[in-house]
Amino acid sequence: MYRKTGIQLMRMSMAPTRRGQANSTQQKQTPPPPPPPPLRPRASALTDEIIRVDHAGELGADRIYAGQMAILGNGPMGKTIEHMWEQEKDHRKQFEQLIQQHRVRPTIMAPIWNVAAFALGAGTALLGEKAAMACTVAVETVIVEHYNDQLRQIMESPNPDKELLATITKFRDEEQEHHDTGIDCGAEQAPFYKAITEVIKFGCKTAIAISKKI
Ligand SMILES: [Fe+2]
Ligand SMILES: [Fe+2]
Repeated sequence: MYRKTGIQLMRMSMAPTRRGQANSTQQKQTPPPPPPPPLRPRASALTDEIIRVDHAGELGADRIYAGQMAILGNGPMGKTIEHMWEQEKDHRKQFEQLIQQHRVRPTIMAPIWNVAAFALGAGTALLGEKAAMACTVAVETVIVEHYNDQLRQIMESPNPDKELLATITKFRDEEQEHHDTGIDCGAEQAPFYKAITEVIKFGCKTAIAISKKI
């Protein structure tokens, strides 16, 4: 009976197999990743601060609604929360693109906001639907005020960034809708509404102040 010699076996193990060849062909056929968005001139100090803090804020908003969805997603408020979450995901995506385009450094606090915001969304949702809506009202009140302040700052700057102005105006209007949805869904009937909203507003304002700088 014919037996393969040691050398023959070694050659076989070193030779590319058909499966290996097929894999390398498949790898070649994988479409290349989409090109990164075109770079823009390095951001001014104001634009730099605005993009960093808004990126942090929209990351937080995305995680708050994710936390609410984890608890209330299958309940009667699920569709309403999901609609707002979809808009927050888009806000986050657009600021992620702006951070790349303007080469802005994200806040070093991002990992902490990530966890804290999910905990806030899920924690208030565990207290009930109305408490979740109270959280939405508190957060969106602060964000609308914050975006209005930024719009004023951009308009008063010597060279207003029209694109950023349009983006923030659109997002500000959507945050106002989220606030109004919270009120319409009974936020003010949540137990300890005043205390809950005041504590959350204070937390959001502190997070904004920190994210502007570090
Ligand atoms: Fe947002
Ligand atoms: Fe929002």
